[in-house]
Amino acid sequence: MRLLDRTISLLLPAVPKPIVRFFSRRYIAGTTIEDAFRAVRELQRQGAMSTLDILGELITSSEEAHRNTEAYEELIHRVATERLEQTHISVKLTALGLLLDRELCLGHMRRLLDQAVKADNFVRIDMEDASCTTETLRIYETLRQEFPGRVGIVLQSRLRRTLDDLDRLTQGPVNIRLCKGIYLEPRPIAYTDPEIIRRNFVVALERMFQRHAYVGIATHDERLVWEALRLIRQYSLRPHQYEFQMLLGVDEELRKILLESGHRLRVYVPYGESWYHYSVRRLRENPQIAGYAFKAIFKRVSA
Ligand code: FDA
Repeated sequence: MRLLDRTISLLLPAVPKPIVRFFSRRYIAGTTIEDAFRAVRELQRQGAMSTLDILGELITSSEEAHRNTEAYEELIHRVATERLEQTHISVKLTALGLLLDRELCLGHMRRLLDQAVKADNFVRIDMEDASCTTETLRIYETLRQEFPGRVGIVLQSRLRRTLDDLDRLTQGPVNIRLCKGIYLEPRPIAYTDPEIIRRNFVVALERMFQRHAYVGIATHDERLVWEALRLIRQYSLRPHQYEFQMLLGVDEELRKILLESGHRLRVYVPYGESWYHYSVRRLRENPQIAGYAFKAIFKRVSA
């Protein structure tokens, strides 16, 4: 990261919330379920599929975990009643109580997956920071036995453990989103060199294809997209055997290029009242836009 980018990244928490909100609105569908559905319909019009995420802060009580579970149940139900085709759900286990009580969290996931079975939908468990990886994978491995074809997981090419996790997971049918990993982890457990993170992504992707995993190729990095297209050709995969995945608001041109070339692509659509932390993470990944946020502050101050 360049010095200016690093400085912007460090200063982001000092930016007033309304300014963060203004510059992050492209990454978030809005605060309500209706806002989210509007974004899904627009994406459908463009030929893209969606996965919906209800934004949440770190929770501290089992009541909050219950409330989040109910909100997700309602979401799965509404997706079905509104007949939103190919609209999946993404969920973070910490929002359902992973850090409070593993069994409570597992129970909540079972409720969501019961609902997903009824509504013929699919729930992807997002991957959080490395302190959650082992438990998240354990819960996933339990649930995929109980709800085959209804639940998926995420692996991060940044982590040194990922190829081992992949070898274990691909002993059965598996649906994996592969991404670089957004959480900057310490060197003993994670690669810090961007080129190694990329190469590990390609090695993992090829291994997934060889083992017939269904992969959500989640990246906006054109070099990785190029590598994925090369492997798709090499393994003669048909479009229903994989999908690309991108975040709402990021590189819409690349999204269009992939869709127009006949690939399936799913957009991650976050929405909800707790938009702040997600926005800061996205802006950190794009210091150029964060830079505009700072300019806006200075303009406001000097006006
Ligand atoms: P990289 O960061 O190199 O970005 C490539 C290019 O994309 C940049 O040069 C820029 O042009 C553009 N770009 C990237 N971010 C941008 C932004 N915010 N604004 C504008 N342009 C931007 N991580 C995780 O740890 N757990 C998870 O569960 C998920 N889930 C997930 C789902 C989906 C659908 C996606 C696409 C990503 C995730 N991630 C994630 C995040 C992922 O790990 C990673 O941090 C980001 O995708 C950025 O990495 P890229 O591979 O896109 O490359």
